[in-house]
Amino acid sequence: MSDPTAPSPSASAETTTAVAATSAVAAAAAPAVAPPKVVVPPKPTPAKPADKGPSRRFFLLSWFGSWFAVAWVAFSASMLAMVLGTVRFLFPNVLSEPPTSFRAGEATGYEENKVDDKFKEQGAWVIRAKDERNRDIIYALSTICTHLGCTPNWLESEKKFKCPCHGSGFKISGINFEGPAPRPLERYAIKKNDDGTLVIDKSRKFQKELGQWDDADSYILV
Ligand code: FES
Repeated sequence: MSDPTAPSPSASAETTTAVAATSAVAAAAAPAVAPPKVVVPPKPTPAKPADKGPSRRFFLLSWFGSWFAVAWVAFSASMLAMVLGTVRFLFPNVLSEPPTSFRAGEATGYEENKVDDKFKEQGAWVIRAKDERNRDIIYALSTICTHLGCTPNWLESEKKFKCPCHGSGFKISGINFEGPAPRPLERYAIKKNDDGTLVIDKSRKFQKELGQWDDADSYILV
């Protein structure tokens, strides 16, 4: 006797068919396996076209800018020159002249009848010698020839000053004795400081022909 609860063979076959269909549907519904990602390399950035120099506008701006700068500098320089010129007129002319007085060492440092050119650059010979009254004095002679202003030279062998321009001669005292010079060399003022040093003052001159060599400021007694 057959079991009424057991499934019939036809039913079993249907069941099998149904399961197979279900599996097919499930298989169709299941998500497909994702394919592996392909790494795409980044596209190379196209290179910028080579810089072919400043643009036309930039060129024009530069050109005008440079000319404007030149013009501005020239204008500023001219204005500065004008201002300086104006300021210059606010101040008087100042002539740089050598000092009119100078120190000539100690009186004891001078030998009698000895002439050297130590102060010739300053325009004087400082000499120790006897004067016409046979006094031992020190005096400062000008180096300017009284003819036309040349500078004589001391000739030690001949004991005289000789002018190279026209041949005038002067004794050690400064008195002219040959050539065209019309009068003796001039003396400068001389004094002795408390410390024994001599000071020559070229701003004061003494002329023998005017009797000024008798002035006590034209010599010092040794
Ligand atoms: S300038 Fe000295 S002799 Fe003429």
